[in-house]
Amino acid sequence: MVPAPSSLRNIFGNLDIYLFDQLLKGRIKEYTQLLDAGCGNGRNIQYLLQAGLPVFGIDQDAEAIRQVQERAALLAPHLPPTNFIVADLNNMPFTDNQFGVVLCSAVLHFARSEAHFRKMVQELWRVLQPGGMLFCRLSTTIGLENKLPHLHDYFYQMSHGKNWFLADASLLLNLEITLGAQRLEPLKTLLVEEQRAMTTWVLQKSA
Ligand SMILES: C[S@@+](CC[C@H](N)C(=O)[O-])C[C@H]1O[C@@H](n2cnc3c(N)ncnc32)[C@H](O)[C@@H]1O
Repeated sequence: MVPAPSSLRNIFGNLDIYLFDQLLKGRIKEYTQLLDAGCGNGRNIQYLLQAGLPVFGIDQDAEAIRQVQERAALLAPHLPPTNFIVADLNNMPFTDNQFGVVLCSAVLHFARSEAHFRKMVQELWRVLQPGGMLFCRLSTTIGLENKLPHLHDYFYQMSHGKNWFLADASLLLNLEITLGAQRLEPLKTLLVEEQRAMTTWVLQKSA
């Protein structure tokens, strides 16, 4: 039976629409060991937990991890709570090549410097298996070049008052070359009315 529109939120939660697109493209399989890096309260893994995937999550915020452990205990009681831990993206307690899919949604623009940004992306890449997919959504300058108040280096003042690290297209390309990554699709950037640009960056590690 097809689920009613009113029940979709129970199934998918607030799943990012661009991640939903990856699901529809068949790039996340049932058996895939998946890491949500910077998972927050787990909005992007609600469906994946219910679908029975071996999901892991890290976040630097202990309260977010407490909430995601609660969510996982309800939706996927077979998973150990230790799959969800407090950790920093720049030093993750996982072995190399551990995950078939690594998600990193709305986290990388909190980088503290270019070196920190690069280190976080390298860590995401390190724990990804050959053939695996790295899916990132991050705020960038793409489409808003010269329109945002520039502070210094890659830092910009956002309309909500915070200073964010905004990668540009060259930095992303440079990292891809350094990592030897293949783009699974072109960069896709959503512009929020001259406030911010949210880019979807989807990479594959060579098998
Ligand atoms: C805007 S929330 C996004 C949460 C979730 N990924 C989502 O899409 O709803 C950003 C999250 O990244 C976490 N975060 C930021 N920098 C981090 C870092 N260096 N290591 C681990 N978590 C980090 C924050 O604690 C926060 O939970």
